[in-house]
Amino acid sequence: MMQQFLALICLSIASQICVTISQTTTATWCTVATNEQAKCEAMKTAFTKANLVPSLACVQGTDTFDCLSKIHTGAADLITLDGGDIYTAGIEYGVKTVMAETYSDGDGYYAVAVAKNSDTSMTLNSLKGKRSCHTGVKKTAGWNVPVGYLLGEGLMDVVDCNSDIKSAGMFFSESCAPGALSAKYNPNEDNPPSLCETCIGQGNYKCARNSSEPYYNYHGAFRCLAEGSGDVAFVKHLTVQENTDGNGDQWAQNLKSTNYVLLCPDGTRKPVTEYKSCNLAWVPSHAVITAASATMEKINSYRKLLDDGQKLYGTDGNPEFDMFDSANFQGKDLLFKDSTVSLNNTDSTEYATYLGVPYINTIRGLAACPAGSARWCVVSDGEFDKCEAMKKAFATENLKPDISCPRAQNQEGCMRQIRDGQADLVTLDGGDIVTAGNTYKMQPVAGENYGKEDATASYWAVAVAKKGTDFGFDDLQGKKSCHTGIMKTSGWIVPIGTLMDRGEITVEDCNVPVAVGAYFSSSCVPGAKTPTYDPDNLNPENLCDLCIGQGEDNCVRNNNEPYYGYTGAFRCLAEGAGEVAFVKHVTVGDNTNGNNAAPWASGLDKADFELLCPDGSRKAVDDWLTCNLARVPSHAVMTSGSKSTEVKEEYWNLLKDGQGIFASDTGTGFRMFDSEGYEGSDLIFKDSTVNLVDVGEKDTYQKWAGEEYLKSYEAVTCLRLPASGAGQITTSVAVTLVSLVVAVLSCIYN
Ligand SMILES: *[C@@H]1O[C@H](CO)[C@@H](O)[C@H](O)[C@H]1NC(C)=O
Ligand SMILES: *[C@@H]1O[C@H](CO)[C@@H](O)[C@H](O)[C@H]1NC(C)=O
Repeated sequence: MMQQFLALICLSIASQICVTISQTTTATWCTVATNEQAKCEAMKTAFTKANLVPSLACVQGTDTFDCLSKIHTGAADLITLDGGDIYTAGIEYGVKTVMAETYSDGDGYYAVAVAKNSDTSMTLNSLKGKRSCHTGVKKTAGWNVPVGYLLGEGLMDVVDCNSDIKSAGMFFSESCAPGALSAKYNPNEDNPPSLCETCIGQGNYKCARNSSEPYYNYHGAFRCLAEGSGDVAFVKHLTVQENTDGNGDQWAQNLKSTNYVLLCPDGTRKPVTEYKSCNLAWVPSHAVITAASATMEKINSYRKLLDDGQKLYGTDGNPEFDMFDSANFQGKDLLFKDSTVSLNNTDSTEYATYLGVPYINTIRGLAACPAGSARWCVVSDGEFDKCEAMKKAFATENLKPDISCPRAQNQEGCMRQIRDGQADLVTLDGGDIVTAGNTYKMQPVAGENYGKEDATASYWAVAVAKKGTDFGFDDLQGKKSCHTGIMKTSGWIVPIGTLMDRGEITVEDCNVPVAVGAYFSSSCVPGAKTPTYDPDNLNPENLCDLCIGQGEDNCVRNNNEPYYGYTGAFRCLAEGAGEVAFVKHVTVGDNTNGNNAAPWASGLDKADFELLCPDGSRKAVDDWLTCNLARVPSHAVMTSGSKSTEVKEEYWNLLKDGQGIFASDTGTGFRMFDSEGYEGSDLIFKDSTVNLVDVGEKDTYQKWAGEEYLKSYEAVTCLRLPASGAGQITTSVAVTLVSLVVAVLSCIYN
């Protein structure tokens, strides 16, 4: 309401500036290719001509993940995704569904398993050792759903993480799974050849993942069953009807639908017409999704735009513009699938409701790992590379459980993956440890230890300045500051909590970032302007002023921002961007006197830096024990609180055995606690880690964090643990009102 009201005032005085303030008037589509961008621009021209609102805009991303990140940060609003991508997007960002594509045969389909009626031994529980017919490897109805179902239900043994093709090859005796031995799906050339055994394509076309293989796709997979080359076919609900009782090609002419049955999850068999009560999953159609933060009002405006659009441009052959055709743009399925007949509102905007439990279970089943594997969640390219190296190194030494490296966009994405059983482990710092424990019910399994002085796995948060400057800890107002990241322990929670506690920073209505932005003249606080930490986009811009990440990487809360983390915050000071850096006790030593080979750190001398003590004095960098802001819990390896004690012990043993071999920072082999050779620093573990320690008694997030730390965390977040959240809501409403008043005033004065 307020936003509409604001837009009206603005329009009534015809101010350009105010029209741009009202963001709700644009719907930005994210495209992933040049020809898709061209189609989007054409759609925009068509929509504009018809005066459709909100107005359409187009932005091109590098791929689906880039688009999802753009949608999350508000740089884009809409994209069409298939079910698998909607699931991933939902786990990562909690996206909402707007409209779904409807095709001539409906808005989705049932994935079914078909067998011959005469073959009475066949049920879903007796598939092991049988011969299978698939539409194609990694295709939805013919592969992902049935294999995911069998893995998820525990009927098929899991050979290794992300090895569903191998698992299926070991499970079925022979198959036709088109594509199973192609370079794309068999990069290591170790898929079982039995997966292509019963295919009938000629010569090199045998088992091709296209129509050169007669057993390819829905009709081909059914033909494979009908001709006796398989015992079960995985197809969709109308496939049998389309190829029996007089329908279909030559090979299908004498087939009768009554000679086939569906295999149901409860172990029974049913006539092929009973697919609604006897299927592996409902596979929803592709759907247009938007950000989790989108209001119902916004979603309805997108729906209206697309509905108005399809009324004008949704029929095939419209010479002006055809929404559901891509031929004019040298492509297929651009923006929407070309087979789309209409877009219809989804019943629910919840992605999980849209996908449905059976379908989600098959997606999860497909990602299944052998019991007791350690899926280590990583959040950047550098971390992924180091994790893969760790996986190889540990495997070479035959350490169990096996490691795999699922990816998320950020730490909170990892926490969601762990909650949802998609990952097992992640290393987190103090602030994230509390979030992980409080919101996601996670627990620590191991802690980092940074040196013999603190074998209890703690560290000290310090404030560092250059020697030769003359301010103390009480004179930081108006200074330029470098922080490891918003809500990070040494870079935010401890220093800001301390400054608040001392009355240096006064916080109104619990808006800490606003108070910090007013206190320092400019800063680099990675993450300060990302939606997770700035949902209402109200945090002051100057919190990112000193950051140097390029383009969209500027001020992001990961290693893509060069001033992120301990090393980054110190670099921000060392390069003269900031005057004070909030880091931990070993950061200066780690990056001076030749200890960091990066060009910016070469030639740095530890003696050129000093600590700012809370009593106002300055001390040498090595005197951190008597000149620190607080002793804080070290980073911890966290896992789901639902894991059994045995599993947690397995994880600890894996880490203990692993560091027994790979803890050294020298040598040519894999180095667990060193990030050299990968992009970024402090990857998976902090580089300053000497070893990992068992959490022992401190096996909950509260015990790990310690009472004092929890107190400063509560102060900085204005939360009471467990969180009530009420105070925050009131605050953001108040701030929104203030910003609206400011915007209205700026309307009047412009
Ligand atoms: C199918 O793929 C094979 C390569 O795997 C290729 O040689 C063949 O031309 C393709 N056939 C069609 C109809 O696209
Ligand atoms: C979808 O929308 C179209 C056009 O608005 C309509 O004709 C059709 O009945 C709708 N289909 C469903 C399943 O709601």
